[in-house]
Amino acid sequence: MEYKIALLAGDGIGPEVTEEACKVLLATGERFGHKFHFTGGLIGAAAIDRTGSPLPDETLELCRKSDAVLFGAIGDPKYDNDPAVRVRPEQGLLAMRRELGLYANVRPVKTFPALIEMSPLKREIALNTDILMVRELTGGLYFGRPQGRSEEGNTAYDTCVYHRYEIERVVRLACEYAMQRKKKVTVVDKANILATSRLWRETARDVALEYGDINMDFMFVDNAAMQLIRFPSSFDVIVTENMFGDILSDEASVISGSMGMMPSASIGTSTPLFEPIHGSYPQAAGKNIANPAGTILSAAMMLDMAFNLKQEAGAISEAVGKSVEAGIVTVDLDPVYPKSTSETGNWIAEYIRRNF
Ligand code: IPM
Ligand code: MN
Repeated sequence: MEYKIALLAGDGIGPEVTEEACKVLLATGERFGHKFHFTGGLIGAAAIDRTGSPLPDETLELCRKSDAVLFGAIGDPKYDNDPAVRVRPEQGLLAMRRELGLYANVRPVKTFPALIEMSPLKREIALNTDILMVRELTGGLYFGRPQGRSEEGNTAYDTCVYHRYEIERVVRLACEYAMQRKKKVTVVDKANILATSRLWRETARDVALEYGDINMDFMFVDNAAMQLIRFPSSFDVIVTENMFGDILSDEASVISGSMGMMPSASIGTSTPLFEPIHGSYPQAAGKNIANPAGTILSAAMMLDMAFNLKQEAGAISEAVGKSVEAGIVTVDLDPVYPKSTSETGNWIAEYIRRNF
């Protein structure tokens, strides 16, 4: 088969890590008989510098015409500490989520046995963690209006709004995943305080009825933040609203001790998008030291979820697992004898060529 992939490398280490993912995809295509066509598009700070917009129309058009988007990272320190800046790179990401209707962000959180010592948690607590975080991505505080400041500037407000259909579709997705896993869904909210959370609970209960044998429980977000580090292996699928999910998915991402290896998918009503969860890591940009595994595993998620190429996705995951076992890892995982970004990517691509 042939697939069109929009390649949005973005800022910082984005270009380096996406290049390795492309190498690995090309190797996978060779072995399994698929053609992947990559077309580059501008986004983020790189796009502002060239066009003035963090998400130029052509990029959006490219995404709409493609079968999937492979995304690197967004963000540049020159925009971070300047409140006067009017256009920010992150606006490109939010606009893309909205325009592509990417209502769910899916992040698997798994420990790699060979890397368990890297976890900030005790080994016996981190062991066997296997969580799927499902974060609502186009609603809540991020997009609710009104948002702004009073005339005199001393009051500011954001609005958290959720409609039943927005909750239904993302909870349904979480239930679908749970059915393929341990059939447990934890809905995280703040229903003791927030009206939106009470609608979440009510709606989630109704959705659960569609799935006979699903085990759904509800947890307040403050408690969930605590349980995630006390007993992470007790979770299966977690589903929550946008802001809670933003915070909890960062918390969950460090459990494995190797944030550089964590992939994610954003899916919705149009082209799905796949990206590593690490940011643009500007200090490492251009040095060939960033860990490409998160992006390579995001490419594997793309094959699995967007193209239904399960075997091919499995081959990439296996290759990444083997690279870790063989100690072919970047400086974040091995400060003493690190491999470079490109050496790591080459090894993984080569593994696929030799073994499949
Ligand atoms: C994420 C990021 C974004 C968010 C930023 C860059 C807008 O933190 O993808 O989690 O807050 O959603
Ligand atoms: Mn975030």
